[in-house]
Amino acid sequence: MSQDQHKDKPWGGRFSEPTDAFVERFTASVGFDRRLYRADITGSIAHATMLAKTGILTEDECSQIVGGLEDIGKTIEAGEFTWSVSLEDVHMNIEAALTAKIGAVGKKLHTGRSRNDQVATDIRLYLRDGIDAVCGGIREVQKGILTLAEKEVETIMPGFTHLQTAQPVSFAHHLLAWFEMLQRDYGRMQDCRARMNVSPLGAAALAGTSFPIDRELTARLLGFDKPAANSLDAVSDRDFAIEFTAAASLLMTHLSRISEELVIWTSAQFDFIDLPDRFCTGSSIMPQKKNPDVPELVRGKTGRVNGHLVALLTLMKGQPLAYNKDNQEDKEPLFDTLDTISDCLKAFADMIPTIRTKKDNMRAAALKGFATATDLADYLVRTGLPFRDAHEVVGKAVAFGIDKGRDLSELTLDELQAFSPDIREDVFAVLSLEGSLNARNHIGGTAPAQVRQAIASARKAI
Ligand code: ARG
Repeated sequence: MSQDQHKDKPWGGRFSEPTDAFVERFTASVGFDRRLYRADITGSIAHATMLAKTGILTEDECSQIVGGLEDIGKTIEAGEFTWSVSLEDVHMNIEAALTAKIGAVGKKLHTGRSRNDQVATDIRLYLRDGIDAVCGGIREVQKGILTLAEKEVETIMPGFTHLQTAQPVSFAHHLLAWFEMLQRDYGRMQDCRARMNVSPLGAAALAGTSFPIDRELTARLLGFDKPAANSLDAVSDRDFAIEFTAAASLLMTHLSRISEELVIWTSAQFDFIDLPDRFCTGSSIMPQKKNPDVPELVRGKTGRVNGHLVALLTLMKGQPLAYNKDNQEDKEPLFDTLDTISDCLKAFADMIPTIRTKKDNMRAAALKGFATATDLADYLVRTGLPFRDAHEVVGKAVAFGIDKGRDLSELTLDELQAFSPDIREDVFAVLSLEGSLNARNHIGGTAPAQVRQAIASARKAI
């Protein structure tokens, strides 16, 4: 390394020895932040346009800069750009390439700007697109859920609490619960996007700039709602990265819970559903195996996203205002979170509509475990018995059924009347699975009529 290599650094003026080779690699971010190149170029074009509109640059200087940046964008997209670690990050790589391309006028681009407001702008632009793609992915999964639900309104399965048979439900009703989880995830992503959408440009290093800039203009050109109100906050705020990752963690938590159900339901013990072979893999030793790898992996990847959330929270907790180099560490967790949730959403959108239900097995399972015991208690309440007494009576009937190895619906009228003389022949309609479902005929209930309406309003909501 030559003694005056630091002279090539955009900040080399006050330095008298070159950067240590290890430190150069240690402090560089270009290996991962080059992903921001499109946002960086878009932000720079807006900045240059503003500099010309305010008379800080001439129109001619601006159009040379914009033309140069556009060419650099094409070179990067063609895979022909040479990234240099000694130029540290995406911002200085692109700026150096600009000056190499258009000459000294390229050096004027950074007037009234710092990498601090530049990077804060770039990540927001990048993440804004990322959130839009994630929201599209959530919608695809929701559509898949509704497509499956439409076919499964009449499919009856046991609903669980404590993973013990509780009450029969429509499988479509269960699927609509997944839909609601994702609906909240969508809302959280939108909330994050709205709060994030302010422009840091003009904050410069931390205190603003002495040039007569127009922050409203750059904000408008970049599709931000307004300029960030405080220059110190503008360059140091990474709340949006934390909010996004928190929303992503919750999204992953939902996908993980759904995955867990798919894993349970595909087991030989439950055998409620079948996943197509293309979403499963086999075992190298056990020939009979078909493992639900996709849901298992989604469940597993939840851990890394949760880890990224903790990393970002920890990254920020000790930072004084304003920008600190610590912030360079925001990118990898953010990018990996984006990649991970995008992949998981894609896997789910492809897989969910292909789920095949084993209706007979689901029905048989619903007939075990005294799933209609609450219906019998409700029946007795309608004959005038207080609910607590009805609960006691049905508890005894269940104990009798367990002893005989028969469900409540399989007991004779005589046997049932031994527990309460108020029980009549019409009880068997109440004890049937269909009777149980149809009885829950209110908003949010599992009666097929309600489920059909819920599917229709869900379709409208997305
Ligand atoms: N690569 C840096 C980052 O990601 C860009 C900002 C650097 N600013 C500075 N003053 N060193 O945060």
